[in-house]
Amino acid sequence: MPVPIIIDCDPGHDDAIAILLAAGDPAVDLLAITTVAGNQVVEKTTLNARRICTAAAITDVPIAAGCARPLVGPRYVADDVHGESGMDGPRFGEPTVRAVPEHAVDLMRRILTGHPEPVTLIPTAPMTNIALLLTRYPEVAGHIREIVLMGGSTERGNRTPVAEFNVYADPEAADIVFRSGLPVTMCGLNVTHQALATPDVLARFEALGSELGGICAELMTYFASTYRRIWGFDAPPLHDPVAVARVIDPAIVRCAEASVAVELRGQYTRGATVVDLHRYLDRPVNAQVALSLDQEQFWDRIVTAVDTLGKRAVRTDRPWHAGP
Ligand code: BDR
Ligand code: CA
Repeated sequence: MPVPIIIDCDPGHDDAIAILLAAGDPAVDLLAITTVAGNQVVEKTTLNARRICTAAAITDVPIAAGCARPLVGPRYVADDVHGESGMDGPRFGEPTVRAVPEHAVDLMRRILTGHPEPVTLIPTAPMTNIALLLTRYPEVAGHIREIVLMGGSTERGNRTPVAEFNVYADPEAADIVFRSGLPVTMCGLNVTHQALATPDVLARFEALGSELGGICAELMTYFASTYRRIWGFDAPPLHDPVAVARVIDPAIVRCAEASVAVELRGQYTRGATVVDLHRYLDRPVNAQVALSLDQEQFWDRIVTAVDTLGKRAVRTDRPWHAGP
């Protein structure tokens, strides 16, 4: 039976591919997509979720917009990485897939409490919605199978020397998630930097011959340009799909257990994840921490999912497309 999941995201180039993997892989059942402020303001991340769902003909998954700012402190966006739209690169038309008129947190609660089995939450963005869900509706905890998140790092950061963006943009929310007592798996930069969308990956998207494969190649091309400019990477890391891949097949992402704490007060270290892999501190284990990626399996699952969706997608947003 496919694992029921909800993705809470901020598309976002890599969030978009995470959505495609979740919608196109038979090992998971994507019940909802919820959006939050992160890579861009929530109006833009919601529009982008609608855009990628329209392009992939994902019409049966509700999309709901959530929090517009973090629990505490200023709102940051990552327009330097993802552009003014939050998903720069491809030209998208007006999306036909709509968002539902319900707050993300209420949609999550309704789906969680109504589903016959516990559901896995996959946050690939600042964890504001998830923290609000857990604090406002604590009764949902029994309906959550696990939380498999993209965020943090066992090593250095990408927004400060020690803080990764999703945690840095709402450290209090991440802290609530890591202290929730629920099973948590952290897929941080240390593992997502093994998921590099090399020219070979781009060629595989293009070789699919579908409009959706072309969109993925365009997304990766833009993402590659910002990663090259800002960090000097030869190829961009596709962070968010790593968390989805962990749920699809745990063997793709090898983990070790550790205590993880979020630094909330450090003078220079706010938003850092303190991952105690070697048990220096006398703290209980509260997370599985991703360490390594089976890259071949990872890319095979993504390309296959995009191929599946691309074959069934009906063109709605590119009127000049002459395909069937
Ligand atoms: C994370 O930050 C965002 O820019 C990406 O979408 C990913 O979720 C990586 O630090
Ligand atoms: Ca993201």
